[in-house]
Amino acid sequence: MVGKVYIVGAGPGDPELLTIKALRAIEEADVILYDRLVGDEIIEMLKRMGKELIYVGKNSNEKGGNRQREINEMLRKLAEEGKIVVRLKGGDPFVFGRGGIEAEYLAEHGIPFEVIPGVSSINSVPASAGIPLTHPELSSSILVVTGKDGVERWCESILNGTLVILMGRNNIKEICNNLIRAGRSPDTPIAVIENGTLKNQRVFFGTLKNIADIIEKEDVTGPTLIVVGEVVNVAKKIVNPKIFSSL
Ligand SMILES: C[S@@+](CC[C@H](N)C(=O)[O-])C[C@H]1O[C@@H](n2cnc3c(N)ncnc32)[C@H](O)[C@@H]1O
Repeated sequence: MVGKVYIVGAGPGDPELLTIKALRAIEEADVILYDRLVGDEIIEMLKRMGKELIYVGKNSNEKGGNRQREINEMLRKLAEEGKIVVRLKGGDPFVFGRGGIEAEYLAEHGIPFEVIPGVSSINSVPASAGIPLTHPELSSSILVVTGKDGVERWCESILNGTLVILMGRNNIKEICNNLIRAGRSPDTPIAVIENGTLKNQRVFFGTLKNIADIIEKEDVTGPTLIVVGEVVNVAKKIVNPKIFSSL
């Protein structure tokens, strides 16, 4: 019997910012593989729960790629032994967290897995310091970048990076046309997610040139979030109904 891997976001460090779903997965886990950024208080809590813990964070002199291969293989091996494995990552596992790479690996190897989103540092850390990321009079966009890239790359984000658009459903045709006019390829992948994380979640995939027609045919009335960029194609690799569960 193959076990299961939960790829879990631990939030920014405060144990009270772990989600109920994360806590349930932790309770169920036989073994937990965790990173450096998982808060010390959370690790203390896991020890008190008597969980088997394996530290897999990389040292500063280590190559990320080699370490990642080892982690992928550990996840597979433990699941093949029938274990329930929690892969615990700081913040959200799909935000600068290599969670997507692990999910792709598990999907390729037919290992059942579930992604449990976490409270990302992106929004929680500024909020805890009293900084609203948007403000009706001050800012209507947020640019999230890695500091490992130079500023000149950040300026290209609108053309190359992942773009997340809230409140865009009714203007989707205009948004796509404007993005193409601004220089994004008409074939750029785009996903429209309605009622995300709820039981009635629906995800529509397309490209900048055809998504407006696709969602016009559907009765999309719930709240929607739009994602533009090559990362949208990762979902096509990992969302295998037999092994991937997110709800
Ligand atoms: C590899 S990224 C992982 C991000 C994480 N997956 C997330 O969603 O927050 C690590 C970076 O996130 C930021 N970060 C994460 N937790 C933080 C915290 N509690 N306070 C400040 N910055 C934090 C820091 O910039 C840190 O170097």
